[in-house]
Formats: sequence, structure tokens, C-alpha cells
Amino acid sequence: MNTAPGLESWVERRRRAVDEALERFVPSTGQPSVVWRAMRYSLFAGGKRLRPLLALASAEAVAERGHMPITRAHALSLPCACALELIHTYSLVHDDLPAMDDDVLRRGRPTAHVVYGEGLAILAGDALLTEAFRVLAIEPEAVDGVSPADLAVRKSEAIALIADAAGAAGMVGGQALDLEAAAPGGTPLDAEALREMHTRKTGALIRAAALGGACMTGAAPQLCAAIGEYAAQVGLAFQIVDDLLDVEGESAALGKTAGKDAAAGKPTYPSLYGVEASRRLARECVEHAVAALAREGLSGQLPALAHWVVGRQN
Ligand code: IPE
Ligand code: IPE
Ligand code: MG
Ligand code: MG
Ligand code: MG
Repeated sequence: MNTAPGLESWVERRRRAVDEALERFVPSTGQPSVVWRAMRYSLFAGGKRLRPLLALASAEAVAERGHMPITRAHALSLPCACALELIHTYSLVHDDLPAMDDDVLRRGRPTAHVVYGEGLAILAGDALLTEAFRVLAIEPEAVDGVSPADLAVRKSEAIALIADAAGAAGMVGGQALDLEAAAPGGTPLDAEALREMHTRKTGALIRAAALGGACMTGAAPQLCAAIGEYAAQVGLAFQIVDDLLDVEGESAALGKTAGKDAAAGKPTYPSLYGVEASRRLARECVEHAVAALAREGLSGQLPALAHWVVGRQN
């Protein structure tokens, strides 16, 4: 991982905390085991955990700005961080289905439907999505220094913003645009339509991750606005780089099949702008993202995470 000093060990520690909490939310003892096993197969396959990291980094940045103890920021934001990973993992399981991208490799393993069959892969995805909202509704039960009434308001705001990002106006809508554009006889997307598709299918959940962390930490509206702007730019950069890695990366390093977008006739940044210009656009997104944070004096690991998104190799 290429990066600013300190990011690597921060990421390692936060990933551990996320994985421990996910173990609690999606335990190996879940019944009936047939569905929990399939959920865990995709969840604990070594994803980068970018969305939880953004939620935690954003909560920490808000806490630092408001002189709040970091332990409180974690207690408030960790369940939300995990919920985002549950939703993201469901989106991957469904994205790989034969009716969608028809992929056989994910996170370095055969895809869920290859191992468990299509029916169970669909159900495991449904269950991951549903568990996410159970976690958001229930956790955390109580946090020192935050009144029960405040906590309830923050949870319901986080639920609404994450539902918006995951649903028909967000990720699901973007995936529908992606399917439509790649269907035989589909109209090629222009720059604006491509940006809209990426913003919905990938950007929305990434933005919701950063905003969810901020919301749970009680961030003031002007901080949420800056974090929302930051994360929208990071989300677009993330999908541009995903498109670039599909062209330039190798399946073994990516843990998923490289070269599939062109073969499937997907609209992507490299197919519309070329590789060099796409890279430049991704870098510009990161500059805008970091500038939005600076405006409100927000920092912590958020700027370094934005740079990591464009420099990543998988
Ligand atoms: C891949 O996301 C799917 C997209 C939204 C582009 P990630 O690259 O974050 O996948 P994992 O979680 O690390 O496997
Ligand atoms: C998928 O985009 C975005 C999701 C909502 C899962 P891609 O189809 O490009 O993601 P990969 O390349 O399969 O991970
Ligand atoms: Mg797809
Ligand atoms: Mg795909
Ligand atoms: Mg892709």
C-alpha cells in the first residue's frame, strides 16, 4: 500500500476492529447455518474494507475537530461502518451473478454462486442487506456522553441516508443503468451519463460511509457538507480506478477477473476517455476531495485514504 506515514498501521488496526465486530454481527453460529455460511464465505474473504475505513476515518476527523474522545467516536460509528461492509458485500455477490456480470472470481475466491448455487447466493445477498439494517437499528445500544434521544435521532438519520444510497436512487439504480447500457442494442453513454452511473452504483455507498460516520458522531451540517463533497469525489475516483484496473490489472492481483468490462461492452472511463485521461480525472477528483476537507479544517486519515484510493493496485 503506497501512502502517507501512519496510514498503513491505522488501516491494519481499524480493519481488525471491523472484522471483530463483523464476527459478532454475522457469527459462525447463525442459524440456519446454510445461509449464514454462504454470507460468511463472501464477507470474510479479504475485502479491502474501504467503506468501513471511511466511516471510521470520518468519525475520527469529526471527533478530533470537536475535541471528542476517539473511543466515543468508535463506539458510535463502528456498527455503521460494519453495516456498510455488509451492504457492499451483498452488492458484490449480486453483481457477480450470471444475470448480472457473470463473474466466477471475487476476493480471490470462486464467487458465491459458483460455490453455493445461484439461489443461495441471491439469498445470502438478501440476508447481508437485511442484517445491515438490523445492525443500524440496534447498535450501539448506548454510548457514554450521548443521550438516548440523541443516539436515536442519529441512528434514524444514518438509516435513512444509507437506505437512500443503497436503494433505487443509489447503488441499485446505478447497477440498473449499468445493465441497461451494456445490454445488446443499448445506447452508448456520454460523459454525463457515465458519471451519473458511476456516482450511483459506487459513489453513493462510499459517500454514505463517510457521511454515516459523521452523522453518528453528531457532526454539524457544515462538516457533513464538506465530508459529503469529499466522499462524492473519492467515490468517483474509486470507480474510475476500478475501471482502469480492469484494463491494466491482472486477475491474480485483483482477486477478480481482469478485462471483463471491454469483453462485456461495459461503459467505463477508459473506454470513453482513454487510460491517461482517466488517470488524470481520478487524480483531479482526489484534489477536489482533499480541498473540501481543508475548507472545514478536517483531516486525520481522510486525505491519506483519498490518495490511497487512486494509488491502489487492487
Ligand atoms: C469493488 O469494490 C466493487 C466496486 C464497487 C467497484 P472493492 O474494490 O472495494 O472490493 P473489495 O471490498 O475490496 O473486495
Ligand atoms: C460494481 O461495479 C459496483 C457494485 C455496485 C458492486 P463493477 O461491476 O465494476 O465491480 P467489479 O469490477 O465487478 O468489482
Ligand atoms: Mg457490475
Ligand atoms: Mg462486476
Ligand atoms: Mg469493475
